[in-house]
Amino acid sequence: MSKITSSTLLKFKQEGKKFTALTAYDASFAGAFDSEGIDVLLVGDSLGMVLQGHDDTLPVTVEDIAYHTRCVRRGIKRSLLIADMPFMSYATPEQAMTNATALMQAGANMVKLEGGHWLLETVTKLTERGIPVCAHLGLTPQSVHVFGGFKVQGRDADNAQRIIDEAKAIEAAGAQLLVLECIPAALAKSITEALTIPVIGIGAGADTDGQILVMHDVLGISSGYIPRFSKNYLAQTGEIRSAIRAYIEEVDTGVFPAAEHTFS
Ligand code: KIV
Repeated sequence: MSKITSSTLLKFKQEGKKFTALTAYDASFAGAFDSEGIDVLLVGDSLGMVLQGHDDTLPVTVEDIAYHTRCVRRGIKRSLLIADMPFMSYATPEQAMTNATALMQAGANMVKLEGGHWLLETVTKLTERGIPVCAHLGLTPQSVHVFGGFKVQGRDADNAQRIIDEAKAIEAAGAQLLVLECIPAALAKSITEALTIPVIGIGAGADTDGQILVMHDVLGISSGYIPRFSKNYLAQTGEIRSAIRAYIEEVDTGVFPAAEHTFS
């Protein structure tokens, strides 16, 4: 069993093999996800909502992410581990350097940052100094108050073009992976085809190279609500490991995401 690296994901993209990603926050769940074959685990700042009970991700701190990254690292053997950089922890390249270093030293293989053009210098500085970057465009939850809610992005031509331009620029700046969240499927498809680096979608249709979901949605434990783009696999399988295998199988065969999980 060889470890998943950014080169593995690049090879998957080149071969047209879909891959799966899932959030994880502790060693036990992470170990189960890893051993069932999830390729990428993300210590997401979604933990502010699903673990801490906040309405958004803004209260999450670098130390919160570092703590959960250390926990997940102890549980896994194969998956690539990405740590989210929390709100305002990368507002300047210097802040980004300090805080990304802490997350890499906690056990991450890569850090994830939300944003486009304003992040280019930071992405280059991090990658040049040995910190791999996953970028995140579309519905970037740390900007929820700028967007006026958790809304699908890129539906009008100007915004769609801006997201395309930012995706290309961020790849050129050195990012090795890109998450696209809640954008029309056709837009995600054209970005995925335009980029060399692998693209992971959430609410971005079936044509991205990989899919990512929040574990609480997959296991049906998000309190009373499951986002339209997600799927409760525990409900259809009745057992956690079977649910994870069903998610992997459905991404691999193109069954998930279906039309009902997709935006236009
Ligand atoms: O924080 C998170 O869990 C994320 C995923 C939804 C992509 O950023």
